[in-house]
Amino acid sequence: MGGTLNIGLVGCGFMGRAHSNAFLQAPRFFPAGRVPVLRAVCARNRASAEAFAATWGYESVETDWRALVARPDIDLIDIASPNDTHAEIAIAAAAAGKMVACEKPLGRNAAEAAGMAEAVARAGVANMVWYNYRRVPAVSLARRIIEEGRLGQIFHYRAKFLQDWTISRDLPQGGAGLWRLDEAVAGSGVTGDLLAHCIDTALWLNGPIAEVSAMSETFIRERTHTLTGATAPVTIDDASAFLARFANGSLATFEATRYARGHKALYTLEINGEHGSIAWDLHDLHRLQFFDHRDEGALRGWRSIHVTDGDHPYMDRWWVPGLQIGYEHSFVHQVADFLRGLDEGRALVPDFRDGLATDLVTDAVLASARERRWVTVTA
Ligand SMILES: NC(=O)c1ccc[n+]([C@@H]2O[C@H](COP(=O)([O-])OP(=O)(O)OC[C@H]3O[C@@H](n4cnc5c(N)ncnc54)[C@H](O)[C@@H]3O)[C@@H](O)[C@H]2O)c1
Repeated sequence: MGGTLNIGLVGCGFMGRAHSNAFLQAPRFFPAGRVPVLRAVCARNRASAEAFAATWGYESVETDWRALVARPDIDLIDIASPNDTHAEIAIAAAAAGKMVACEKPLGRNAAEAAGMAEAVARAGVANMVWYNYRRVPAVSLARRIIEEGRLGQIFHYRAKFLQDWTISRDLPQGGAGLWRLDEAVAGSGVTGDLLAHCIDTALWLNGPIAEVSAMSETFIRERTHTLTGATAPVTIDDASAFLARFANGSLATFEATRYARGHKALYTLEINGEHGSIAWDLHDLHRLQFFDHRDEGALRGWRSIHVTDGDHPYMDRWWVPGLQIGYEHSFVHQVADFLRGLDEGRALVPDFRDGLATDLVTDAVLASARERRWVTVTA
């Protein structure tokens, strides 16, 4: 099926740029099916919407997402605005018969996410959640290695996501850029922001999580609120760590914080199985570390696979073997897979059901930390 896919984007911040770039690049490097057309971008401030439209080539602007959703010339509503906007926009877009792409976390909590998953299912519209790390070629290769049974039975899963940008007491909360520190907007702190990424990848690589035992901390308990100018309590989790037991019997540890001095976006994961192990690090995202115990004894050791060859996931469409790609390409791959799925009549994962599955785990983590007990993850 050829033709165009008319995009209506909500939000022109960090993710608005990543998505716009992906919509433009995907059909050039992965031609298949419909070609995205940047019809309209929506932001509350007209001047910033117009500046964004000029930079990225959007044909028009809106300042109210409701007007965007009502437009008959839009096929897909792409939600790249803060977490408190996701549910209302997604549910309205689905009711209007639009396809919906939504940033993570899907909802501020699982109840919101469940309403969103129900809305797209009822409307029968294509949907996806931007858990982009699945489509870093090295992470996709990890999934292939696991699917081929090369690790054997999985014993351990270990993930962490460390940042350091909120350590200063002078940092306010709320408003543009700092909405992540405001629980009413974000839903939670690092659990919904950073651990959500770790959890989505883990569910994809290692299956469902059965139960969790968590602890969290808010290190700076009061900050000036940008919108009011007054000092207000901080209610997000600044740091969150949990133990987990997967349905397949493996044990896991997860940790996220914005107080790890020196770390900017250190997302790492490690999996230990019966025959082998893998390890991946976002700071070196084009490499996958792989150990295979079945290698000949004298030569056995960790392989550092430079995931740039033509037979690695996605890499046959980029440059030549040996030349690496980066962060933005994970979004390009997600759009490419979505377009191919539309063409072939297959749903893309992660979809809203997957987004809900992650929110059910983050809800369990927050409940466990609050109540200081093991919590079973609702299926
Ligand atoms: N997939 C990822 O790796 C990743 C990375 C960063 C952020 N995110 C997610 O993306 C979303 C946006 O984050 P960001 O970092 O781009 O934020 P941002 O603060 O950089 O940008 C948010 C944009 O939304 C706009 N906005 C806010 N409310 C709006 C409304 N009611 N209508 C229209 N526009 C509105 C703002 O003006 C701004 O342009 C969040 O849900 C976040 O969790 C995902």
